[in-house]
Amino acid sequence: MVDYKREAAQAALSWVKPGMKLGLGTGTTADAFVRLLAERVRGGLDVICVATSERTAELARAEGVKLTTLDEHPELDLTCDGADEIGPSLGLIKGGGGALLREKIVASASHEMLVMAAAEKRVETLGAFPLPIEVVPFGVAATRLHIEGAASALGLSGPVTLRRTAAGDVYRTDGAHHILDAAFGQIPDPERLASALDAIPGVVEHGLFIGLATAAVVAGPSGVEWIT
Ligand code: A5P
Repeated sequence: MVDYKREAAQAALSWVKPGMKLGLGTGTTADAFVRLLAERVRGGLDVICVATSERTAELARAEGVKLTTLDEHPELDLTCDGADEIGPSLGLIKGGGGALLREKIVASASHEMLVMAAAEKRVETLGAFPLPIEVVPFGVAATRLHIEGAASALGLSGPVTLRRTAAGDVYRTDGAHHILDAAFGQIPDPERLASALDAIPGVVEHGLFIGLATAAVVAGPSGVEWIT
């Protein structure tokens, strides 16, 4: 079976130039990118990277990719990351892997963000994938009510579920926050929902990435396609 995630990651490498400061995403596609990047590094490519999660940092270290922090390098050239959905105008849903907060910080610190994905991640309207919303543990039930109210004001509804691990424990992000997965279904106006969520105390960040992606490279049965 063709590994389309790896194909997209391979194509994304064409944007990487010597001397770049890179953001490394999180997820299986980002893992493929890190491994392919590491091959180039072993071949002499000089780049320095900021990881968007402990998981990615661990992989990068194991693969011999040089890591830094945003404190040392607050401006990056390029971030290469996956997505859960790619919608119109390169609006994204991210956070299925729980790293949305660091992913958004790193993408925002980068001059360009390149999304790598299997073609099946493209959608006409965002929202079939439940929207991850990172919240502080304090008052999570109250925060959930506010989220439901804000969504309802925009005509959206659906279960908002506290994420748990496979073992049944409440999921904790790298920042020790919780995640509410909001299954609202189609989100016709992601910008308005993003603004409404941004205004709720207790919401740390949400997985709507609007206006952050520069381009996307998607791979599928009909080949590799670039979306700009
Ligand atoms: C991680 O928090 C997510 O934003 C991932 O980028 C997203 O879930 C895509 O993951 P895969 O590359 O594993 O599909």
